[in-house]
Parts: sequence; C-alpha cells; structure tokens
Amino acid sequence: MDRGYKAIVFYICGTAALGGLLFGLDQGFIANSIGTISRVYGLDIKSAEHYSSILATGGVLGALLSGIFARYLGRKKSMMLSGFIFCAASLVSSFLPPLTILFVCRFFLGFAIGIASFIVPLYLSETAPAQIRGAMGTLFQLLITIGIFLISLTNVFIAKWITNPQTALPVMFAVIVLFASLMFVGSLFLPESPRWLMLKGRKNDAEEVLRKTLNSEEDINREIKNIEGTLDDTGAQFGILCKGYFIKVLFVGVFIQIFQQLVGINVMIYYAPTIFGYAGLTGIVAMMAVPTVNMLFTFPAIRLVEKWGRKKLLYIGACSMFAAMIAAGAAFSMIGNNSAPSLIAAGPKMVLLIAVIFYIFGFAVSWGPVAWLVCSEIFPLQGREMGMTVTTMVNWTFAGLLMDNALTFMKVNGNSSIFFLFAFFCVLAVVFVAAFVPETKGVTLEQIEENLKAGKKMRFLGEKRSA
Ligand code: BGC
Repeated sequence: MDRGYKAIVFYICGTAALGGLLFGLDQGFIANSIGTISRVYGLDIKSAEHYSSILATGGVLGALLSGIFARYLGRKKSMMLSGFIFCAASLVSSFLPPLTILFVCRFFLGFAIGIASFIVPLYLSETAPAQIRGAMGTLFQLLITIGIFLISLTNVFIAKWITNPQTALPVMFAVIVLFASLMFVGSLFLPESPRWLMLKGRKNDAEEVLRKTLNSEEDINREIKNIEGTLDDTGAQFGILCKGYFIKVLFVGVFIQIFQQLVGINVMIYYAPTIFGYAGLTGIVAMMAVPTVNMLFTFPAIRLVEKWGRKKLLYIGACSMFAAMIAAGAAFSMIGNNSAPSLIAAGPKMVLLIAVIFYIFGFAVSWGPVAWLVCSEIFPLQGREMGMTVTTMVNWTFAGLLMDNALTFMKVNGNSSIFFLFAFFCVLAVVFVAAFVPETKGVTLEQIEENLKAGKKMRFLGEKRSA
C-alpha cells in the first residue's frame, strides 16, 4: 500500500478537524476566564452571562448561513472563512477593545463555530475514504474535547501565574489566535471536496482529488460512479423539502441533536465546578475533572465507532448517563439544597464525584462523537447542506436553551431535579435510537441514500445491498 497516500488523507482530516479544536477552545473558554474578563471589564453577573450566551446566538446564525456558504463558496473556502473569522475575532479581543467590540467579537467567534461545526463533519464525510470515514468523523469531536481541555488548563494556569488581569486576558485570547492561524493557513492547502466538485460539474477536478486520496483507478471510478448516481435530480435545494424521505431523515437528524443536548452535557461542562462546589469539592480537581475525562474517553470512541457501530455506542452512552444521573440525583437528594459544604457526608460527595465522571465518560464515548457523525452520514447529497444546517442549528438552539435555564430550574425545583430530568431524557433517547436511528457503520453514503429513496424505514437505512 502506498504510504504517501495515507499521509495526504490524514493531512486533510487533521487540518479540517482543527475547526473542531477551535469549537472546543471557544466553548471551553468561558468557564475558567470569566473571572478575569469580569475584572478587566467590570462585568456584573448579567452581562457576564450575556457575554457567554452571545456565542450561541452567533453559532445559530453561523449554522444557518453555513449551508449557503458550503454550497456556493464550496467546502474548502467555507473552512478558510471560518478560520479567518476565528483569527480576526480572537486577535481583536486580545487587544482588549471596548466592551461592545468585545461582545461583537464573541458573537463572531460563535458565528465561526457555527460554520465550522457544520462544514467540518461535512467535509470529512465527503473527503475521507469510506473505511475510515467514521474514525475521521469522530476526530471532529475529539478535537472539540481537546480544545475544551486545553483552554480550561491554559486559562487556569494563566490566571494563576499572571495576576494582573489586564495582562492575563490577552494571553488567554492569544492561545486561540495561535490555533486559529493554524487552521486558516492549513485550510489554504486543502483539496476541495470531490462531491462538491461533482455537484458543480467539475468532474476532472473531482478525479484529481480522488487520485490523491484513493488507492487505485478502480476505486476512483467506483467513487465517481457512486457520486454520479446521487447527482441525478439537480433541482433547487429547497425542492427537497417537499420530499417525504427527506422530511423523515431530517426528523432523525434533528432529534439526534436535540437528545445530544437534552441529556445535559453542557450543564456538566459549564457548571460541574459549581456542582462539585455544592458538595464541598473545589480546586484543580473540580476545574479539570470534567474536561479531562471528556477528552480521554473520546479516544476509544474513535475505534469503537467503527468496531461496534454507532447504535451500540448510543445505547451504551445513554444507559451509562442514565445510571450516572440517577446516582447524582440521589446524592443531591441526600445532600439537600441548604447544607453547608463542610456538613456534607463523605458518601454522597463521593457518589456525586464518581457519578459526574461516569456521566462524562458515557457522553464522551458515544453521543458526543456519534451525533455529529450520524448527521453527516444520513442525508442525501442534494439535501445534505440543508439537513446539516438545520440539525446544527437545532444543536446550538438547545445548547443555548439549557444553558439559559438549567440553574434557574435547579433553584426552582431543587438541585436533584435536573439530574432526574436528564435521566428521563436518556430513557427517551434509547427509545428513539431503537425506533429510528440507522446503523451506518461501513456503509457508503450513496448506499444510505439509495435505501432512503427506496423508502426503507429509517432504522434500516444502513442495510447493505445484497451481493
Ligand atoms: C456538543 C457540545 C459539547 C461538547 C462537549 C459536543 O458534541 O455538541 O455541545 O459541549 O460535545 O464535548
């Protein structure tokens, strides 16, 4: 086997997945920097919350427009665009501009994440060879979690070492500038997605890209044929909204993303230090346990997603998160709302710590990577941009909704209530996966599309053609 061939594939996937890293860097930025930002800008809690949440608004808008960018600019140029915005917005922020400009920059960082979270899985699913598509797709999630981990860690240490917040904050932003520049420069040298080139009628260019990524002329011809088979109806994108099969598959993608958020991941990612604080656990463990476990357990997911398949992981993840949420809810019921941390017994504290860690394990090994991966695989080529745009927007909308309401919900209904609610959503998620989610392991995108158009039930979309 030609070794150079593989290196190119990994360059393509690695550079594209830097978009995932920036997603994580910006998503994880707030948790350990908001104190510093507040001191520099004199923010009260409300405006600090607003500064955090404007990222989600940018994310929804970025996701909305990303389908249009992907279609008209192409996948590569959209990736360059998001890299450029990441660079510019974090660079301007590092100069500590007036507050309004800082807010605008945060909005644009969200906008760039919105584009990246749409374009990266799309690009990877269209450019990586079928056998490693799953693993490459999960790279996106791995990079998100590495980004969250990295920025949590660097922000903790920057705040500790540089006591003057005016100096610390630019350094915190500089970490993002560094990786944003890598993504931008890296994306300049990426090949365009062969599927997009075919959509634009540029068959020769598509063949040239495939020559770089595939092993033999036979493989190239097969791939070209596969893609051609899905280019038949060239009607406008919006026309596909009238097709019943598209609505059905959209329903599946939308609910996968809704459940990815309703199981409560971002409440854990953002509020775990607060939650641990209720149980009297503070310091580096409280700040770093969640991002560390989240990152570490995304690694096995890369292998398992191809070995065990998507559905098995979704079941394992939902069941683990269910058990963890019940345990965490029970621990909080024992702790109650009003106990002073020093009065809390060691038992519930330990249960809580282990439960949250086990929960993060459950998410990292399953719903984290698999939700994005499945959404990049199930849509027919003609409706892929629209499908992924809608599902990405839904993901951001529900992430924002949860972030905005989780703490109030806990206050109104008691600390344990939210954990039981998440456990309930885990049960619904299992039912949903069993009834509607297809197993797409090792199946070509074209086969999935053929099954979809042939009217197969959603959960059988991954069935292979009998030889
Ligand atoms: C989710 C994010 C989440 C992250 C945590 C992603 O798959 O979409 O909302 O913060 O995983 O690793």
